[in-house]
Amino acid sequence: MYKTRIAGVGSYIPEGRLTNHDLEQMVETSDDWIVTRTGISARSIAAPDQYTSDLAFLAAQRALADAGLTAEDLDMILVGTETPDHPFPSVACQLQHRLGCRAISAVDLHVTCVGFLSALETADAFIRSGKCRHILVVGADNLSRITDYTDRTTCILFSDGAGAFVVSQTADPSHPGILHTATHANGEHYFSLYQERGGSIKMDGRKIFKLAVTAMTETTKQTLEATGKTIADIDWLIPHQANQRIIDAVAEHCEVPNEKVISTIKYLGNNSSATIPIAFDLARQDGRIKRGDTLLLTAFGGGLVWGSALLQF
Ligand code: UT7
Repeated sequence: MYKTRIAGVGSYIPEGRLTNHDLEQMVETSDDWIVTRTGISARSIAAPDQYTSDLAFLAAQRALADAGLTAEDLDMILVGTETPDHPFPSVACQLQHRLGCRAISAVDLHVTCVGFLSALETADAFIRSGKCRHILVVGADNLSRITDYTDRTTCILFSDGAGAFVVSQTADPSHPGILHTATHANGEHYFSLYQERGGSIKMDGRKIFKLAVTAMTETTKQTLEATGKTIADIDWLIPHQANQRIIDAVAEHCEVPNEKVISTIKYLGNNSSATIPIAFDLARQDGRIKRGDTLLLTAFGGGLVWGSALLQF
C-alpha cells in the first residue's frame, strides 16, 4: 500500500509591495479600516513582466531542490491557478518545458482558492494508485491582474505569489504522509464570488465571509473525525489566508489555540491557491514546522468550493 509524503516545499513571493497607505491614495479607505476588518497591512505584487508561470517556476525549482530531486524525476505536474498566463495552454505545460521535464502529464486545475488542495488531493490519488512516484503540486496566482483597483471592497484583499510541494510515493509505514483529503463544491453561490468575463473579481463580501467560516469549520471537523484525530494531535492549522477575522473564527469554532494557527495575511494578503503552500514554506523556514509535525490545511473559494487535508510532514 503506497502513501504520499511531502518530499519538498518551496515558494516564491514577488518583491513588489502594495501597502494600506498606497491604497489610501487609490480608493476611499483607511489603514485603520483595512487592518481592523481584514488584518492586512501589505500585499505581495508581481512586477508587470512577471506572469503566473514565472512565479510558479521559481517556487517549483525551490521545492525540487528541497526534495533533492530533479525535473526528470517528476511523473506529473498539477497547478492550481485561476490566473493562468493565457486561457490556454496551461501554466503546467509551461513548467514542463521550463523545468526540463520528460513529456509527462501536465494539468492546471481551476478551483479558485482551493486549487492547491485539489491538486494535492489529485496527486495523492495518483501516487496511492501506483501510477506516479513523484508529482509537482503548485498553487500560483496573480490576483492583482484581475483586481479592480477602483473597487475598495475587493482591492484591499488580493495579492500575488506561488508555493509548491513535491510529493513522493513511499511504502514506509513510519511515514504516514497524507492521511486524508476532502474537497467539495456547491454552485448555488456561483455569483457570490466570480470573475466577470475578461474583467475583474466581483464579490459579495459579507455573504462569502459567512459561507467561508461555516465551510472551513465543517470540513476541518469532518477531517478530524475521518482520521480519528483531535485538535490535541494537530501541531499546526494552516487555513486559506482570506481575512484574519475568518481565520480567527474558524480557529475559535474548531477550538484551535491561536499559537497553533499559521497566518501570513498581514504582510502577504490573499494570493488565492498560493496561500497555503507559501504559509507552509515560511513556517518551515522559520523553524515552526518540523519534520514529523501533523498539519491540518483548509481552504474555501469562489464556486463555492472548500476542502481540507490532514498530513504528517
Ligand atoms: O479567497 C476568498 C476571497 N474573499 C473573501 O474571503 C472575502 C470575505 N469577506 C471579507 O473579507 C469581508 O466581508 C470584507 C473585508 C470584504 C468586508 O468587511 P466587512 O466587515 O464584511 O464589511 P462590510 O462589507 O459589511 O462593509 C461595512 C462598511 C460598509 O459601509 P456601510 O454600508 O456600513 O456604510 C462598506 O461600504 O464598510 C464599508 N467599506 C469600506 N470602508 C472603508 C467597504 N470596504 C471599505 C474599505 N474602506 N475598503
